[in-house]
Amino acid sequence: MDFKEKMNYQKEKLEKDYFSLYPGRKDALNRLYTLMRKHHSNRSDALKTRDQSGSDWLNAPNTIGVMLYVDLFSSNLNKLKSHSDYFKELGVTLIHLMPILKPRSGENDGGYAVQDYRSIDTRIGTMEDFMALVKHYHNNGIRICIDYVVNHTANDHEWATKALSGEEKYQNYYYMFDSDAIPRQFEATLLEVFPKVAPGNFTYLEELEKWVMTTFYPFQWDLNFRNPEVFYEMVDNLLYLTDIGVDMIRLDAIPYIWKTIGTDCRNLPEVHVLLSLFRKIIEICAPSTTLLGEAIVEPDAIVKYFGAEERLECHSLYNASYMVEIWNSIATRDSRHIAWMKDYEIPFGSVWINYARCHDDIGWGLDAERLKRMGFDPNAHKSFLIDFYLGSLEDSFSTGELYEFNPMTMDARNSGTLASLAGLEKAIKFSDDYLLELALKRIRLINALFLLRKGIPMIYSGDEIGQLNNTSYLEDGYKKNDSRWLHRVEFDWEKIGETQPSESVHLQVLKSMKQLIDTRRNYSGDAFIANETVLMQSNTHLLVIHQISEKNESILLIFNFSEDRQWLYSNELKRYGVGGVWKEIIQGKIIDLDKKRIVLGPYEFFVMKI
Ligand code: GLC
Repeated sequence: MDFKEKMNYQKEKLEKDYFSLYPGRKDALNRLYTLMRKHHSNRSDALKTRDQSGSDWLNAPNTIGVMLYVDLFSSNLNKLKSHSDYFKELGVTLIHLMPILKPRSGENDGGYAVQDYRSIDTRIGTMEDFMALVKHYHNNGIRICIDYVVNHTANDHEWATKALSGEEKYQNYYYMFDSDAIPRQFEATLLEVFPKVAPGNFTYLEELEKWVMTTFYPFQWDLNFRNPEVFYEMVDNLLYLTDIGVDMIRLDAIPYIWKTIGTDCRNLPEVHVLLSLFRKIIEICAPSTTLLGEAIVEPDAIVKYFGAEERLECHSLYNASYMVEIWNSIATRDSRHIAWMKDYEIPFGSVWINYARCHDDIGWGLDAERLKRMGFDPNAHKSFLIDFYLGSLEDSFSTGELYEFNPMTMDARNSGTLASLAGLEKAIKFSDDYLLELALKRIRLINALFLLRKGIPMIYSGDEIGQLNNTSYLEDGYKKNDSRWLHRVEFDWEKIGETQPSESVHLQVLKSMKQLIDTRRNYSGDAFIANETVLMQSNTHLLVIHQISEKNESILLIFNFSEDRQWLYSNELKRYGVGGVWKEIIQGKIIDLDKKRIVLGPYEFFVMKI
């Protein structure tokens, strides 16, 4: 389909959505159409060729991602170019560059306070460097994802500066009020995202004697998507980024992009309309680009950001619920947390992004009803997890910090790198070989849990070499109150350098990660994992998953969540029709499921094919 055909195909639905948000604004819609035509005609031939296969690449069986901060990984964009072999060797095909657009100077929430959507953070390079990098990685078969912060701009963005200088037009780009009367009405039902470091949702601007909505930090001003001009400008910026050749746009903090008094201003129906509009516009103008939504909300609300077959929203979403369940099962050694997770149906072609760690904290957004059914008290259990990953419980192997601790409610989230949370830091500190062995096995198990499941695995850079927490952020005035910097660590190339002995802990973690990636790439041939079923059995330390590939091949995954030996009673799998002789493909063992008991060692897992 060419541009015109796609436009005609989507037009009716697009207009329905558009007018539901901006009734009667035919003039604004016509301007939007002109803008879309302009972008499409500016799009390079090379990108138009890529567009022909649309977003199919997203569902390629071997798509494996890494997310990284350019400055921490390689200092700058040019040096990042020289690391393409590292990613190729690891088997990575998608790189998410954490915020690279020009942030405000000074404190900027790790780049999530953008001053200019059309230039690059000067610390890491220029727009030309970025374009060259995209080209270089494309030539190497690797796709690029970047962040697009849609909920807010920095308070020194051009629009904010104009608003501050009194221009009403730009004041209307934000939720700005003359008195605190309306903010107080909003606050009555709003929650707080950063209750400790940035309490409240509005900031008083002395110079204007006005209030502006700031859901996150006071220097991040919420954009007012009720204003069609804002929608227009943000589409313009979005298409500007897609025209550079970016393959995936991570839409930051999407649940918040529409606000209504009397609600908690999260997940409102209009947010879904906005996303469905973005999706249609992308499909018309830049169909090889995909949208990754960041919606860290309750499980039932996250999945809605895929939209529905007839009204699609994001192509991919972070599987935050699974991430939390992984850490939950690791702490409790109880596989039921994952086994009992709801199995959501998602629209065809959409895909979950599976991960264990990212640049943010772990918030314990568990399904309270399910916990109760399992016999847990949800509040007590949350406190247990918070303390466990802080490392303050006697039997905890973890080293972490609290994030956004609230002494009134005792609520908190947790920070820390994968390796530190999984016990490596403690094992090294106490020079304890037994603890070290368990920590390495635990890390491997966690990696397997997100690398081998259906969806796109996303590795948080540094975790592939088992990097530990770094407390140097405490000496930085801008960072010291935000413990997420504990796990935003400079990539330590020396740890995997040639001078390191091959048995070094970090090389072992890397080797193990690489082996898992290879397993993922090889075991289902070139077929996508089409279906997954959890096979229930009585040992609550074990998780059994039956995967069927597109080519109808069976793969059986068995994970042991405990540091003790465990038995699987194979009779219990018979009722699923699963039995016979299988081959464990990593260790090369033959496993006969017709035998009564299958033994798994501490944190051991099997990847089996028939
Ligand atoms: C997203 C980012 C987080 C940031 C917030 C505000 O949740 O992942 O790091 O603080 O948005 O932009």
